[in-house]
Amino acid sequence: MNTLNRVLILGATSAIAEQTARLLVAQGAHVYCVGRNPEKLQLMMDDLKVRAGSGQSIDGQAADLNEMDRHESLIEAAQTALGNLDAVLIAHGTLPDQKACEKEAEQALKEIQINALSVISLLTLLANQFEARQQGGVLAVISSVAGDRGRQSNYVYGAAKGMVSLFMQGLRNRLSRSKISVVTIKPGFVDTPMTDGFEKSGPLWAKPEVIAKGIVLAMQKGKDEVYLPGFWWGIMLIIRHIPERLFKRLSL
Ligand SMILES: NC(=O)c1ccc[n+]([C@@H]2O[C@H](COP(=O)([O-])OP(=O)(O)OC[C@H]3O[C@@H](n4cnc5c(N)ncnc54)[C@H](OP(=O)(O)O)[C@@H]3O)[C@@H](O)[C@H]2O)c1
Repeated sequence: MNTLNRVLILGATSAIAEQTARLLVAQGAHVYCVGRNPEKLQLMMDDLKVRAGSGQSIDGQAADLNEMDRHESLIEAAQTALGNLDAVLIAHGTLPDQKACEKEAEQALKEIQINALSVISLLTLLANQFEARQQGGVLAVISSVAGDRGRQSNYVYGAAKGMVSLFMQGLRNRLSRSKISVVTIKPGFVDTPMTDGFEKSGPLWAKPEVIAKGIVLAMQKGKDEVYLPGFWWGIMLIIRHIPERLFKRLSL
């Protein structure tokens, strides 16, 4: 089992990340939280401090993760605050307006930038640092089932998440001889602010608390890839195997 004592959480104000942080803190972890919105971040850290024991460190700073020239100093700040990092969870993301992305290439690229390129920048820096220190650790990212196959309703988001999943697959292969776990998390539909405006009834929808439990377990066990909840593994197995000849005609 991997130790999750000192954890950096990027995109910490996301509903899924916040629930994950609560579980980690309940287990005694020290956390360094990076979120875009300073007020939301402060509220979240205040809540974590109430939940934490007296010796636990709850620290963090606000940052727009699109500012990739800040990534190195953010990681340094987390290391200074916590000492060596055991684990990192990258959780930030945006759900684009697919129609707007179809009209304007600039909009599509903006979404690829935050959902994929910023994650790849962070992973590259973190992987090199974890590899150099030779102490193992966990690099976990929230990707999505949307990255498993392109669909007309959200293929810009899907392409970005697919890029992240594939990048992590390669990174995992590169680091397979180290003790570093590269954990790809693929949630299905989760009831969070990201999906406000969706009709959220039905058995496919999950609460962020449920996803958070799966994330902590996957990080502890050093899983390669997890679908959350687990039934998405079966759904995506079927979706991935529908012949393209047929798939392209479906309104998905
Ligand atoms: N909800 C779902 O159905 C679902 C399904 C599969 C995967 N996911 C993935 O799960 C992760 C967490 O999303 P969520 O569902 O918890 O939604 P959420 O609560 O809306 O969280 C998204 C977070 O990303 C942050 N963010 C966006 N752009 C950022 C930037 N440039 N710099 C820093 N932070 C930025 C947002 O910060 P602000 O608060 O400042 O906006 C927000 O905290 C995302 O990667 C998402 O793609 C979600």
